[in-house]
Amino acid sequence: MLDITAQRQDGTAARQAALARFEAVRRDSEALAANLTPEDQSIQSMPDVSPTKWHLAHTTWFFETFVLSRFDDDYRVYDPAFAYLFNSYYEAAGPRHPRPERGLLSRPTVDIVGAYRDHVSAAVARLAERATDRVWCQAASLIELGCHHEQQHQELILMDIKHVFSVNPLEPAYHAPPPQIVAPAAALGWIGFAGGLVEIGHRGNSFAFDNEGPRHKVWLEPFRLAARPVTCGDYVEFINDGGYRRPEFWLSDGWATVRAEGWEAPLYWRHDDNGWSIFTLGGRRRLDPAEPLCHISFFEADAFAKWAGRRLPTEAEWEFAADGVPVTGNFADRGRFHPCAAFGAAEGGTVPRQMFGDVWEWTASPYIAYPRFRAAAGAIGEYNGKFMCNQMVLRCGAAVTPAGHVRASYRNFFPHSARWAFAGVRLAEDG
Ligand SMILES: [Fe+2]
Repeated sequence: MLDITAQRQDGTAARQAALARFEAVRRDSEALAANLTPEDQSIQSMPDVSPTKWHLAHTTWFFETFVLSRFDDDYRVYDPAFAYLFNSYYEAAGPRHPRPERGLLSRPTVDIVGAYRDHVSAAVARLAERATDRVWCQAASLIELGCHHEQQHQELILMDIKHVFSVNPLEPAYHAPPPQIVAPAAALGWIGFAGGLVEIGHRGNSFAFDNEGPRHKVWLEPFRLAARPVTCGDYVEFINDGGYRRPEFWLSDGWATVRAEGWEAPLYWRHDDNGWSIFTLGGRRRLDPAEPLCHISFFEADAFAKWAGRRLPTEAEWEFAADGVPVTGNFADRGRFHPCAAFGAAEGGTVPRQMFGDVWEWTASPYIAYPRFRAAAGAIGEYNGKFMCNQMVLRCGAAVTPAGHVRASYRNFFPHSARWAFAGVRLAEDG
């Protein structure tokens, strides 16, 4: 009898913890939008960008579709038309509004999206209260997935609004940034790894996306990894050495993109009589040479590495080097929303610095399935698996990534030419 009572108490505590986490994630999204006007929240500045309002509604649709409609017989859908508007890419969940036209949706209004969020959040809370243990067991894992999904969209809200504001000649600031930390750039040290037969991929019972597993063996030749990411100052040297005018550094597709797009510098950089400036979520300011380089494509990361006589790390090298490094750093909870120069760390250490936070780091690895990967059946199986083509893996997390969202095995991915993510690069070389 005592055991049953204890189990019940454990179950209740677990439900309360899951619900508290859900409610905190929902509040975090709403806090990010609180800085923005309804007009700001409706703009789509390019096809890759979605309006803030759309992110807030789509993450809500995810819980409505994959949790409430499946596990709560009493749930009343808020508006049946929203399934068409706010389904992102799930073929199994039905037809949807074209992605490049999300900025045309003046309706539903920001207020109605807010009411939709409240309706769904309250229904999830009711489910947590009333569901049988059998139902809750299935619903809880999807609620957890929905929370991690919403955190991914929190980063997208910041990436996307930065682009929206950058194309406005007024260059509005999203927030008043904390004071800039000025520190000299650390010399580019190197840390050696013996390699050999190692394992990568998620281990243990904590949450991970399906693309992080199965854990498997990989052979690594000896290699060295840069002790810090490439800085803006490093990259200015590449630009000044004709980096964007010399095809010998570029992959063929990269050089074609440089010419077609007229690239001369990373996204958000501008050069005038006073030198380089960059657009940040705190507005435009002078470039800090010590700060990690950000807003480059895979092509630019690769060209820089060739110019420097080095290469990009593979994702297995990166994960092996990051294993055991505390997952702390400049994440979104610091409220900077911008990479920050490393400071206070000793030279010549054996642990690479800034392995987590600041900027995502492009790797040399294509985004493909790990050995024995199988996508889940049904719509949820579309979450990651169907994108394993024509994209490259990034590791690390950035200054706009929610704290606690990433881990050493986390795999982000973008197409080779994407620049609006907070992406930089860390060099590697053969050992
Ligand atoms: Fe999504």
